[in-house]
Amino acid sequence: MSVRRRLVIGNWKMNGSKAENQQLLSDLVKLQNAAAVNEAAELAVCAPFPYLQQVADILKDSVIGWGGQDASEHAKGAYTGEVSVGMLAEFGCAWAIVGHSERRAYHGESSDVVARKAAAAIAGGITPVVCVGETQAEREAGNTLQVISSQLEPVLALGAGAVRKMVLAYEPVWAIGTGLTASPEQAQEVHAHIRSLLAQAGAPEQRVLYGGSVKAANAASLFAKEDIDGALVGGASLVATDFQGIANA
Ligand code: 13P
Repeated sequence: MSVRRRLVIGNWKMNGSKAENQQLLSDLVKLQNAAAVNEAAELAVCAPFPYLQQVADILKDSVIGWGGQDASEHAKGAYTGEVSVGMLAEFGCAWAIVGHSERRAYHGESSDVVARKAAAAIAGGITPVVCVGETQAEREAGNTLQVISSQLEPVLALGAGAVRKMVLAYEPVWAIGTGLTASPEQAQEVHAHIRSLLAQAGAPEQRVLYGGSVKAANAASLFAKEDIDGALVGGASLVATDFQGIANA
């Protein structure tokens, strides 16, 4: 019986406004207070950088944590547009997503960069949520597990001490924002593979989240799988009752 505590993180991506955030977060806090599921599952939201102070103000007395959607590998300096781990920490972030497929695809982030970002987060006291996942073409070519292994290689090479301070997230690119969810069996196959790589790296008990069109309706069947420890939720995290529904699952 695993002792891994379930974790559900909302990734708002580039969505929200001050007014919408206020509504969403206050609804979430109310639902959390009513549901009292906080002992079962740990919850967090990863908001766009400009809203982190607002998120911190609203969530500070709640059980819901918060984080950024990316973090620079650099501590400071001439890196226009980037946000450092130290800055995130100043706004109370406990989490930083790194290596999301949208960063890899649209910003050319390599797995080496992702590993350096994860290392920077850990050094700054923030837990990186390291994302990996294959494209549709890679899956169809039968390369899913090799792709995951190679994405994780530089991350796991950081060593057991670092890996024990990470959360991993398996997000098949073809399931993100498409309404196509990996079946629990498809997801479990990859999660088991990630678990074996974690074990080889000396950190078998790290949490591995699933992401890709997770909804309240499909969350329970995913979470029933042995190596799925929670979810990284995009679209459904923008609707308080949907996000809470996933947390309840
Ligand atoms: P969706 O839940 O909208 O498919 O997004 C998943 C995701 O990319 C979370 O990081």
